[in-house]
Amino acid sequence: MRFQGLMQMRRYATAATLRQLAHTHARAHTRTHTTLRTLASSASPLPELTQISDHVQRGNYAELNDKDVSHFEQLLGKNHVLTEDLEGYNICFLKRIRGNSKLVLKPANTAEVSAVLRYCNERRLAVVPQGGNTGLVGGSVPICDEIVLSLQRLNKVLSVDEVTGIAIVEAGCILENFDQRARDVGLTVPLDLGAKASCHIGGNVSTNAGGVRVVRYGNLHGSVLGIEAVLANGQVLDLMSNFKKDNTGYHMKHLFIGSEGTLGVVTKLSMLCPHVSKAVNVAFIGLNSFEDVLKTFVSAKRNLGEILSSCELIDELALNTALTQFKFLNSPISGYPFYMLIETSGSNGAHDEEKINQFISEGMERGEILDGTVTGEPGKVQEIWKIREMVPLGLIEKSFCFKYDISLPLRDFYGIVDVMRERCGPLATVVCGYGHLGDSNLHLNVSCEQFNEDIYKRVEPFVYEYTSKLKGSISAEHGIGFLKKDYLHYSKNPVAIDWMRDMKKMFDPNGILNPYKMLN
Ligand code: FAD
Ligand code: MLT
Ligand code: ZN
Repeated sequence: MRFQGLMQMRRYATAATLRQLAHTHARAHTRTHTTLRTLASSASPLPELTQISDHVQRGNYAELNDKDVSHFEQLLGKNHVLTEDLEGYNICFLKRIRGNSKLVLKPANTAEVSAVLRYCNERRLAVVPQGGNTGLVGGSVPICDEIVLSLQRLNKVLSVDEVTGIAIVEAGCILENFDQRARDVGLTVPLDLGAKASCHIGGNVSTNAGGVRVVRYGNLHGSVLGIEAVLANGQVLDLMSNFKKDNTGYHMKHLFIGSEGTLGVVTKLSMLCPHVSKAVNVAFIGLNSFEDVLKTFVSAKRNLGEILSSCELIDELALNTALTQFKFLNSPISGYPFYMLIETSGSNGAHDEEKINQFISEGMERGEILDGTVTGEPGKVQEIWKIREMVPLGLIEKSFCFKYDISLPLRDFYGIVDVMRERCGPLATVVCGYGHLGDSNLHLNVSCEQFNEDIYKRVEPFVYEYTSKLKGSISAEHGIGFLKKDYLHYSKNPVAIDWMRDMKKMFDPNGILNPYKMLN
């Protein structure tokens, strides 16, 4: 009986999925890249300047003048000092925050970053560090006229050591390129997210990005071994290390993991990279209730244990929105209220297959898993991941979207989606939930045709109050940036916030680094 149920799932995978999941691994990657770039530069109307719409009082910074621009041209070369066509650097990925910077600087190395910051600090010119500009909280763009310090040219993978598994990389290296270099020697970067074709590893570290592998590899506080950062006064702080174990003094590198460019500019880092798994299997399954989702998660941990590498949730509306917007996506199953994407990564194909088969057949027997696909073929694995990766893009393709990334206790994980549907009613076009179930990280999304003050008031600060009452976190992975700075107190107490302010003052007494972000 168990075996029969499982065979049905497998047959489904080879009949329907083979036909539907037509594209190759390589094509799938190209498409992610193209989609991200297109979205970031498409021609939808520009929002008002954030300084005006949000009544931001400009800080007491110097105004940029011609002498400054000449100085930077001498320092970096004319080609790397941009004063025209700056819209792409001024507007955030979600097209919600828009600054008015008149200058983008593109240093090539740590020494140039240091010289730029030293000068800006002396002149009291405000600076926003920018990586791939895929951040979702308005942290990577200017709010007023801050100089954009782009890390784009610090893009080299300096070394990947097959023996130790340690890679040294410059901060501006695109995550996908870094991963490719690691894969050349059989390693992989222990971080994967939908923006991988555009985001920088330095941006990832500065936001402490989570993504879809935290359940397996933990977050970046564990895998980043060392950091080089340039402080606001230009000082280079060398915290590089090639060892997992180093208990010499305060663990200062952690201050730069997740501080969103407010304490220093990350220029280089070392990272522990695991070996690429020999066998990767993905199950995409349909379930009837959130209760069944939780039971399936517990069963995944029990049955798959050490090979479980991802456990993602997508609700029906989130999936359907992506499928409607992107016709090239083909879901192997449809018509269920909830979907889970469960991935295993191990070193023994036969053993892993046996484990995932058992997990699925037990779930089907209990009536928790209703239907789905299991595949270990790399092309099909990619195609299933593509569905998950396109979910956030589906929600912003033709709509404005209020996005939340909250940590919630698992038992209360999904309740807020229903509550929010009720609160928003027909004002919203889609209210949905998806995210990293394995890390208790829900992405609550509320879409509407365009920014709508009525919905905004129904959603915020309610979502933060709700999260705080459950002792959750108002930002599980995207950070605080500009959009959430007024809500930090829902997750941090006043004493902690005061210490954060003191630390900011110590590292950046003139407040030139990423002002208007994180702390209000
Ligand atoms: P940016 O957006 O350029 O900057 C982000 C912040 O870091 C800013 O405050 C900026 O000032 C600062 N910063 C950037 N580089 C440096 C540096 N070198 N030194 C100091 N400060 C710096 N996030 C997740 O956590 N998990 C996900 O699964 C995930 N999926 C995503 C999927 C899509 C489709 C998109 C568009 C975004 C997603 N994100 C996700 C959000 C985003 O990709 C991450 O926050 C990412 O880490 C940002 O990297 P970036 O290089 O684009 O940084
Ligand atoms: C994701 O998990 O897809 C990202 O964090 C982006 C999002 O929240 O939409
Ligand atoms: Zn996420």
